[in-house]
Order: sequence, then structure tokens, then C-alpha cells
Amino acid sequence: MYGMVNKAVEDMVIRHHGEAVWEQIKAKAGVTVDVFMSNESYSDDITYNLIGAASEILKTPAEQILIGFGEHWVLHTATEGYGNLMHAAGRTLPEFMRNLPSFHSRVTMIFPKLQPPHFECTEITSQSLKLHYYSHRQGLAPFVVGLMQGLGLKFKTPVTVCRIAAKDAGADHDIFAVNWSPASAS
Ligand code: HEM
Repeated sequence: MYGMVNKAVEDMVIRHHGEAVWEQIKAKAGVTVDVFMSNESYSDDITYNLIGAASEILKTPAEQILIGFGEHWVLHTATEGYGNLMHAAGRTLPEFMRNLPSFHSRVTMIFPKLQPPHFECTEITSQSLKLHYYSHRQGLAPFVVGLMQGLGLKFKTPVTVCRIAAKDAGADHDIFAVNWSPASAS
């Protein structure tokens, strides 16, 4: 994955736990990279090892770290670093969700070697939809949950996310039931 992902993990850890804990996590993960370059590609193993090491050092399940990372990604990495892109994708949660399937094609203009996930929205109503998530990567469904929760916070729209099909339990792909409060429906 692009270095911006590892940088975002670093930013989240330092923000909540400080530099010393980040150095411990990096050492445990066996990561020797000093500074991650946002627009360089790194092996996915680095990201997975960092999340695994964070889970051990912070004594927190990896799923929970990934949920927190999803929220951090939306609220800090994306909103602070790519505000225009985020803004263009929607001004309300439902609008943003409907545009999500095409979102990473714009990101590919900045990061040409991106291997993005693929999203589809079905059964769209004014207060809910089903989000289909396809990826060649394993284990990132909790990250998607955190991303949705982050979007709920960003748009000040209470949202619930429930995984109703799991690829790691044999389903073709992950599906999430996403519901939001009627007040924000557009
Ligand atoms: C401007 C905002 C965003 C940028 C710059 C961005 C960029 C990226 C990058 C660089 C990766 C790593 C993949 C790679 O390097 O090949 C990634 C992965 C991912 N992104 Fe985004 N992204 C953004 C917003 C979002 C949003 C809003 C969502 C969903 C709500 C999302 C969902 C994901 C997921 C789930 C992955 C994990 C990869 C996978 O599942 O295979 N991203 N994105």
C-alpha cells in the first residue's frame, strides 16, 4: 500500500499514545523504515505487521485498532489531507455513500499504482443501504466499519453498520447494512 497508509497509522498512534509507543510498535513489527513516503508503494505486510504489533503493545484486538483507524482515516487523513476530494464526493452521508463506488477512481489520479477496494451500493432507501465491499486483501472489514463510523461523525449523522455477510466466513464478499438517522436523509 502507499506510504500514506502507514503514515496514517503512525499519526493515529502518536496522537493517542505518543512517540515512544510508536517506536515500540515499529520495533515489534520489525519495521526499519525511518520515514514513510506518502506516494511510494510499500509491501502490504508492513501495514499488517504494524496493526498486529499495535494490537499486542496496546493490548487491544486488531479489529478494534482497525475500526479506530477507519475513523481516524476519514476524520484526519482524508478530511485534513484531501479536503477537496472529500468535499466533491458529497455534503451529506447519503450523498457521499452513493458516490463511494467511484471515489477511488479519483484517488487513482493522485496515486496511479493504487490497488483500491471496490464498493457497490444496493437496496438504497432514504435511511439505509447495503454496502458491498470487494478487495483482494484479507481482514480489512473492521476498517470499513470504522470508515463508515468516521463518515457518520464527519457528517454529524448517527449511523449504524452491521456486517451481514463475511468473506472470511465463506461469503463471496463482505456486505454491510448501513442505516442512518432520518434527520439527515437527502
Ligand atoms: C481522499 C480520501 C482517500 C484517499 C486519498 C484514499 C486512498 C487510499 C489508499 C492510498 C489506499 C491503500 C491502497 C493502495 O495503496 O493500493 C486505500 C485503501 C482503502 N480505502 Fe481509501 N482513500 C480515501 C478515502 C476512502 C474512503 C472515504 C473509504 C471508504 C469509506 C475508503 C476505503 C478504503 C479501503 C477499505 C481501503 C483498503 C484497501 C482494500 O480494502 O483492499 N477510502 N485508500
